[in-house]
Amino acid sequence: MFEFQDQVVIVTGSGSPKGIGRTIARTFAKQGAVVIIADMNEEGIKDTVAAIEEEGGKAMGITVNVTSPESVQQMADTIMEKYGRIDVLVNNAGISQKVTVADMKLEDMRRIFGVNMFGLFLCTQACMKPMRAAKYGRIVNLSSVSGKRGGGVFGGAHYSASKAAVLAFSKNLSREISAEGITINSVCPGLINTEIWKSLPKEDADKVIDGIPMGRPGETQEVANAILFLASKEASYITGEEIDVNGGSHMD
Ligand SMILES: NC(=O)c1ccc[n+]([C@@H]2O[C@H](COP(=O)([O-])OP(=O)(O)OC[C@H]3O[C@@H](n4cnc5c(N)ncnc54)[C@H](O)[C@@H]3O)[C@@H](O)[C@H]2O)c1
Repeated sequence: MFEFQDQVVIVTGSGSPKGIGRTIARTFAKQGAVVIIADMNEEGIKDTVAAIEEEGGKAMGITVNVTSPESVQQMADTIMEKYGRIDVLVNNAGISQKVTVADMKLEDMRRIFGVNMFGLFLCTQACMKPMRAAKYGRIVNLSSVSGKRGGGVFGGAHYSASKAAVLAFSKNLSREISAEGITINSVCPGLINTEIWKSLPKEDADKVIDGIPMGRPGETQEVANAILFLASKEASYITGEEIDVNGGSHMD
């Protein structure tokens, strides 16, 4: 099950040292994929590639700004020239900002949507072309529990709105391209044990934990596991869907 031998898998935002993306990338590499570590953080890219290679996996780093059409197209072209295929795209790059709507600037809204939604659109569009030609592809998007219920410890309304937009975009795109062998799904993580969570004062952390039936934050590996499934050949009849990975903090 969940065999990715020699498949080419792009994980955007996988240069973050303690982020979800690095765990996703390592998880695919352990299943035999060639993983493209696509990020703006050059040091982070090197570290993720090194971590994968130390574990006997295959990875290639590409510096990309997902908000730039040229940069994203260059990423897709580089991968196609070297490997001739793109099997999986995980749109993981994302940014957040804690600010109320009263204090929010239009520029804040543009910046958050610029990465979380427009960047996801650009990467998806660029990778869809080779996927369509191959009549096979898996696209998995990182949304968030806040895209379903609003709120969130670390983000504002612009973050929630961008993550809700990801879900609607995925469903619409599923209707357009699923008949061509390409599925597009999302995962909605709740609170995950990343750096930002560790930085939270104990009092605030306790309050958040009270709202999680499982009584703990999720681990990055638990998000990666859901993504691996949605990106697998075995998930062949699932599209336009979303999987909550939130310890029960929100149930549809
Ligand atoms: N951490 C959580 O609790 C949590 C919860 C729900 C959803 N998410 C989502 O999961 C994803 C990963 O979150 P994380 O906490 O690991 O984030 P992170 O901040 O640790 O990593 C994000 C990565 O994206 C990269 N990035 C940002 N802008 C970019 C751009 N323009 N081009 C290329 N790369 C860019 C950064 O360099 C960084 O390496 C995000 O989409 C986030 O919204 C996270």
